Amino acid sequence: MNPQPQIIVLDAGGQYCHLISRKVRDLGVYAEVRPSETRAGELAAAKGIIISGGPASVYDPGSPTADPAIFSSGQAVLGICYGQQLMAHLLGGTVTPGEKGEYGLAELELAEAGDPLFAGLAGRQQIWMSHRDVVAAPPAGFTVTGRTDTCAVAAIAAPARKLYGVQFHPEVVHTARGREYLHNFVFRVCGCVKDWEPRGRVPVLEQEIRDTVGSRSVFFFVSGGVDSSVAYTLCKRALGAARVRGVYVDTGLMREGETDFVSRLGVTVEQAGEQFLGALAGVTDPERKRNIIGEEFVRVQERIIEARHIFDEKWILGQGTIYPDTIESGGTAKASVIKTHHNRVAGIQKLIEGGRIVEPLKSFYKDEVREVGRELGLPAELLERHPFPGPGLAIRCLCAESDAALSRTAEGFVIPVHSVGVQGDERSYRPVLAIDTPDHGRATSLINRLRGVNRVIAAVATRVPMGEMRVCAGSLTPRRIERLRSADAIVRRLSHASGFDRTVWQFPVILIPLGAGEATDSVVLRPVDSVDGMTARSVAMPPELLNQLCRELMAAPEIAGVFYDLTHKPPATIEWE
Ligand code: XMP
Repeated sequence: MNPQPQIIVLDAGGQYCHLISRKVRDLGVYAEVRPSETRAGELAAAKGIIISGGPASVYDPGSPTADPAIFSSGQAVLGICYGQQLMAHLLGGTVTPGEKGEYGLAELELAEAGDPLFAGLAGRQQIWMSHRDVVAAPPAGFTVTGRTDTCAVAAIAAPARKLYGVQFHPEVVHTARGREYLHNFVFRVCGCVKDWEPRGRVPVLEQEIRDTVGSRSVFFFVSGGVDSSVAYTLCKRALGAARVRGVYVDTGLMREGETDFVSRLGVTVEQAGEQFLGALAGVTDPERKRNIIGEEFVRVQERIIEARHIFDEKWILGQGTIYPDTIESGGTAKASVIKTHHNRVAGIQKLIEGGRIVEPLKSFYKDEVREVGRELGLPAELLERHPFPGPGLAIRCLCAESDAALSRTAEGFVIPVHSVGVQGDERSYRPVLAIDTPDHGRATSLINRLRGVNRVIAAVATRVPMGEMRVCAGSLTPRRIERLRSADAIVRRLSHASGFDRTVWQFPVILIPLGAGEATDSVVLRPVDSVDGMTARSVAMPPELLNQLCRELMAAPEIAGVFYDLTHKPPATIEWE
């Protein structure tokens, strides 16, 4: 049984809401998430309340709000990002739209020593921002405790009332001392005591699996990724191997060598490449690609289930869904829809509603799943694999409906392909800006300044000058998928040989329909560092590796150029879709 939560995180719709709760649990204090409008009376047992960030503006009609009584209940309250703006707004301060958004790293300058939230910390601190609106004037009785070059009210406090606000995100890993701010809030301000041990979860998870599954058996579609492999192994441990079956579906959208690797887990392989590629023929729209793949998955699942007579009540479906999969699909009360995951499309949803599903890892983040895998004794080779998205190479193969010219701007060339981004929590499809050198600093300042693009990439090798390149109409054909698979295999081989792959969290390779002459595609390299995929930083690559990659990739006559994605998440996502 879980303890009574000492900290309640009020969900104002931010994609980081559950991350806050998890970070508090990591400090050894049990926390839970509630809708932002929860009445103060229902929160009375908690020692502290944290209001999360969110994509809305406090002046938007219907934007999330909170019960103002929480601010006079005597409990400690910390507002983060939108949470700070909401607190200021409800207590009589002023919130205004910022002149320009602020996304990414910034330096926090503390106003004075001795503020309990920043106890033990002094001077300038690296923090991480993602906002457009700002608090222009704090409410009466509050002092400004921190500022940045572009945000005059980056932290506010009314210590006697135990009320605190920060414009930045202490919960993300890029805020260097974020853990200490949360530690100060939880222990120093709220007076919480440790009551939660995040390790040693395996027996608890096994019991949960047994409770959910009852006397039935579990059927798994194993992808070969860390998540489904850990979930599959957990179920086998909980129920015994005889009651757990695994099938791997080869969608034709997997990486080179993947089917062989996964077969070693002892699962059966179902060849379905023709079915998937047939359904995707001619499709260029990213959301349609995702939906088609989701639907085909359900069809294959149904076919296998029928052929194996697993349709009767004796069976239940097991899945390796992890926490970000559910929140990024709008799985919580208000989380914005950032992407539609294939494992949450209608068919699967029906199984969930019918109670015929077990998802033992659905409240865990990737790093926690690896920890569970280690507790289970799974090999590092499997646990340290880079994450690979369920829809496979399809969301790394960009398409274009028709040919199009690039446009030249003062900063570089705008490429009219539509890649996904996430700015202020909202999902957007926008063109890409190509500059001529892999300069991360310049890319970050450009992306903060320019509104019309989601990403900045550097041209590192092209067959002809950028001005002569063009977008070439192209859909998800088997030839383009194969082209991407070969490029991906080259990058994996060289990045493994150089040891670079162990220094990054994920290294997607993307095919974009940008061509020159007979060559109709280009390759984008996207090495990123992350802890949980929720935020990410584009990683600097050793120049020798970059040169070697360009040489091998450009040896294929159909590849017109090699580019390097310099954008952090946000405002870009990791995948291009
Ligand atoms: P984005 O592109 O949203 O990706 O920054 C965050 C992380 O999620 C992975 N991803 C997926 N994983 N099914 C998955 O299993 C999906 O549909 C999917 N889409 C994105 C992505 O590779 C990155 O690690």
